[in-house]
Amino acid sequence: MKKETIQRAKYLTGGLDLPGDKSISHRYAMLAALAEGISELRHFSAAADCHSTLACVSALGPEVKIEKDAVRVAGRGLRGLKSSWRALDAGNSGTTMRLLSGILAGQQFSSKLTGDDSLQKRPMKRVIGPLREMGADIRARDDNFAPLEIRGAQLKPIDYSMPVASAQVKSAVLLAGLFADGVTSVTEPARTRDHTELALEEFGAAIEKNGRTIRIHGFASANGGGKLLAKSLDVPGDLSSAVFFIAAASLFPDSNILIHNVGLNPTRTAILDVFAAMGASIQILGPKVAHGEVVGDLSVKGSSLKGGVIAGEQIPLVIDELPMLAALGPYTEEGIEIRDAAELRVKESDRIAALAENLRRMNAKVEERPDGLKVSGRSAGKLRGAEIDPRGDHRIAMAFAAAGLAAEGNTVIHDPDCAAVSFPTFFQELNRLVER
Ligand code: S3P
Repeated sequence: MKKETIQRAKYLTGGLDLPGDKSISHRYAMLAALAEGISELRHFSAAADCHSTLACVSALGPEVKIEKDAVRVAGRGLRGLKSSWRALDAGNSGTTMRLLSGILAGQQFSSKLTGDDSLQKRPMKRVIGPLREMGADIRARDDNFAPLEIRGAQLKPIDYSMPVASAQVKSAVLLAGLFADGVTSVTEPARTRDHTELALEEFGAAIEKNGRTIRIHGFASANGGGKLLAKSLDVPGDLSSAVFFIAAASLFPDSNILIHNVGLNPTRTAILDVFAAMGASIQILGPKVAHGEVVGDLSVKGSSLKGGVIAGEQIPLVIDELPMLAALGPYTEEGIEIRDAAELRVKESDRIAALAENLRRMNAKVEERPDGLKVSGRSAGKLRGAEIDPRGDHRIAMAFAAAGLAAEGNTVIHDPDCAAVSFPTFFQELNRLVER
């Protein structure tokens, strides 16, 4: 099996461009497929996950051209998708499976959605429940797991109060709501990323927001807008990918990096607040708004990190960044404690277990809990390089690669190619910025 060896670094320096935001790329691809005309999506994510979405979209009829300067999707309109003769393969991507389920629930045909071993273990009941309430007929293994068979129907609008704070569930219901005959509303228990709402507005859907409730008018209803129109859009760089570099740079006093063109949507930047509270040195340069999304550059310098507790309503806003924060714990003064994050157990891997196991291999002191973990700070001893098993999970691999840079001795990341799920050039970029 391939392995990547991470040696101790002196500091990080230089400029960095990131892949396009994964969450936004999925949404633009799906909405472009439902729009009329050819959408041009520049800086579309290179992530394997987003290419799973493109493959599914293309299997449903729209022509997808992946070109050097942009991805072009020839949309077929809200009634133009065709049934796919083969199962739609979402690969490792929960976002592909859950969001597409919402769209497929409103079609006049049946579809089968499948994914890799990890995705087949992730809970789908959370989208099956509301989509059934809207009238779709959905079959799943043990009524919860992929493969999913979705028989679309003329959907009824619902008012859905989500039991879990999940942007994917919110998005599935809103996308189904496009096809429902009236106004569908979703209320979230805590704020989650709002890229679906912004993208729907951008493509021409009728959306209203009131506190934690979002309403969408079905396109065929009186105020529904009737159709979506193709757009020419730029995808900002992925802040969740930037975080591995922010963390790595923060570990060395002499670091100085500039990350260009990063998405700074306020429902994603809680991680920057967490870093700031921990004492990290991050400056936002030249923020501007494009297509509803905030974009800017990030200047990161070395610092000394305090650590702290991350819990409650912060959790859904930093859910993808928690592996990196936990892996930084042993370098902080007070350690890192993560609470209220049981969702981490149903991500691409059981991230709580994967973090605890690999941190212990590196000599960290860790207390694993059902809904999080407590990682002791610097006084518990230095991190030592070790063999890291990321369990096929891209964010675990990248978090330990960053943490390994300041450990004593070499850190060996097994199966490093799993990083391609979100960041295919991660190790090249890391090696380019690191001075040894
Ligand atoms: C995502 C939402 C989050 C996140 C995932 C991407 C999205 O999942 O963990 O990586 O694009 O909507 P949940 O909404 O299930 O928490």
